[in-house]
Amino acid sequence: MNDTPSQRITNLPAQAFDVDQAARSGLKGHAPKCLWLTGLPGAGKSTLANLLEQRLHAEGRHTYLLDGDNVRQGLCRDLDFSGAGRVENIRRVAEVARLMTDAGLIVLVSFISPFRFERDFARSLFAPGEFYEIFVDAPLTECERRDPKGLYARARRGELKDFTGIDSAYEPPEFPEMHIDTSHLAPEQAVEMIISRL
Ligand code: ADX
Repeated sequence: MNDTPSQRITNLPAQAFDVDQAARSGLKGHAPKCLWLTGLPGAGKSTLANLLEQRLHAEGRHTYLLDGDNVRQGLCRDLDFSGAGRVENIRRVAEVARLMTDAGLIVLVSFISPFRFERDFARSLFAPGEFYEIFVDAPLTECERRDPKGLYARARRGELKDFTGIDSAYEPPEFPEMHIDTSHLAPEQAVEMIISRL
């Protein structure tokens, strides 16, 4: 009984409707996409996602940004940072991103999403070419030096357990669509690089 309800229900056929993703995205005049930013805490995911969304929005793209800290205050507020909690967190977010992409949006997803298999699950929900795994990379020592929220320090003091990079694993992507090294690139440069490759 430890599987999720959505995994248990296997016999419900999908209902087809006439206004589909192509019709919706036709109204917007751009292709829907899911830009999935993964990386250690402090690697720069939220900073890049914020700048990237500003840039796309200014170009008239219809975007939505899903960010770990925010989504964990609502949809995922019942989940902890155990392995199982993180997997369920990412499953929900991937499904929401899929729905938003089906609605025709460019969805930016900014979550640690530490496990390869959960990112592969997210990818499996999208059409070929729609999902971009963007590895926001910086060495652990650099992320810990930045420590924007003071959480590494708390984890080192033993006040936070299961903290990614300290006592919970981060599995780097093997074949991401983009690999952004934020210890060498300024955020504005990184955003230019991402935009140029979409
Ligand atoms: S994920 O691993 O499930 O993808 P998610 O991106 O939603 O994580 O949330 C990460 C944010 O939660 C971090 O930016 C940080 O602010 C906060 N946080 C609190 N506790 C932890 C922890 N133990 N490990 C990682 N992040 C944590």
